[in-house]
Amino acid sequence: MAAPEERDSPTEASQPVMEEEETKTFKDLGVTDVLCEACDQLGWTKPTKIQIEAIPLALQGRDIIGLAETGSGKTGAFALPILNALLETPQRLFALVLTPTRELAFQISEQFEALGSSIGVQSAVIVGGIDSMSQSLALAKKPHIIIATPGRLTDHLENTKGFNLRALKYLVMDEADRILNMDFETEVDKILKVIPRDRKTFLFSATMTKKVQKLQRAALKNPVKCAVSSKYQTVEKLQQYYIFIPSKFKDTYLVYILNELAGNSFMIFCSTCNNTQRTALLLRNLGFTAIPLHGQMSQSKRLGSLNKFKAKARSILLATDVASRGLDIPHVDVVVNFDIPTHSKDYIHRVGRTARAGRSGKAITFVTQYDVELFQRIEHLIGKKLPVFPTQDDEVMMLTERVAEAQRFARMELREHGEKKKRSREDAGDNDDTEGAIGVRNKVAGGKMKKQKGR
Ligand SMILES: Nc1ncnc2c1ncn2[C@@H]1O[C@H](COP(=O)(O)OP(=O)(O)OP(=O)(O)O)[C@@H](O)[C@H]1O
Ligand SMILES: [Mg+2]
Repeated sequence: MAAPEERDSPTEASQPVMEEEETKTFKDLGVTDVLCEACDQLGWTKPTKIQIEAIPLALQGRDIIGLAETGSGKTGAFALPILNALLETPQRLFALVLTPTRELAFQISEQFEALGSSIGVQSAVIVGGIDSMSQSLALAKKPHIIIATPGRLTDHLENTKGFNLRALKYLVMDEADRILNMDFETEVDKILKVIPRDRKTFLFSATMTKKVQKLQRAALKNPVKCAVSSKYQTVEKLQQYYIFIPSKFKDTYLVYILNELAGNSFMIFCSTCNNTQRTALLLRNLGFTAIPLHGQMSQSKRLGSLNKFKAKARSILLATDVASRGLDIPHVDVVVNFDIPTHSKDYIHRVGRTARAGRSGKAITFVTQYDVELFQRIEHLIGKKLPVFPTQDDEVMMLTERVAEAQRFARMELREHGEKKKRSREDAGDNDDTEGAIGVRNKVAGGKMKKQKGR
């Protein structure tokens, strides 16, 4: 184990990125030819800044704390060195990637498969909400890479015969500050106890805990800190705004903004499952193609929602913070913080769902009379004062009646939905998650609100 002072103050790798680095290739970083070709096939013509910093050090066998803005290619920064090492010394159950959410685990697995397809890499996704038996079978086949949420992995470590991680070579914590948070404490401690001390550890996130105590739990050995920016930054090409409105007009302003920016793809964040569901119903009743994603939905419905949104079959995804970290959906144009995030760092992750990989995007945060302090904290964290998103208040007020009617229906549907769920919890054919509530929409006069721009 490393001396504590080494762990307390990781070596800083960040130096000003020199001009010649701009033209570096994956090959220059030490990535093997077959993986360079895989990058090429994904359209990754040159490595991103965090990849330039982290990959050579990871290939040298260093432990890494990687801190870089949202959408900057952190997944590749840890996946490529792992695949490179796997090619050099092929071994089953080689690496474990821990992520806070199930959807993110699937996404990371897709990235490993895309980069590793030509070298026959096998990965398994081990997350909750999915049949445990099939996961046990997948683990029995001893995949090279496991991508897991901590809870379900712990279940398998305790209950699945013949499965252990005693030979593990690499541990990654993606969204590491979240994984090292209290919510996952018990599970992560259990996992750390049963994997070898003698391994490489990579922590990656757009925000990192400064609390050394928390980082120590990951038992890093003489880690290098690869930080692309010195403080938490939101992406340059992201235009950020706020609107200050009375709480009771939130729905009306939301509808106004969706009309104003029609033709775009939206991710709208709410603070609770209930409000996510309610707002989705409300918008559907007004003719918007909105779909919810939250923790009270079954896993198949969660993935179904996400896939419909990814495939552009729905233009609005309403979500809790379950969707705030890591998800890479390139076509998201606008992020709306309908309910302000209570943890300022979540703001950075939420708005990072747009303006990814050099694209541009917009974020609009609703600030009500109750949210002023939280909003100030966010501005302080990102080191910026945000401008107001311009609204025509008289036009907004013209929407109030129709929104009120849609609100009434949404409340009714939510009640019916709740009772239906109570009656038949186990009913697999249960047509919930708002998709079945379309009938009520027709009761609300008219379809989509009239003032549609674009498409
Ligand atoms: N070298 C590269 N060149 C071009 N695109 C890249 C490169 N590396 C990664 N990408 C793409 O950039 C997008 C964002 O990557 P990724 O999801 O790894 O970001 P991230 O830094 O992990 O963001 P977050 O903090 O939100 O998790 C992905 O679509 C990925 O395929
Ligand atoms: Mg990521």
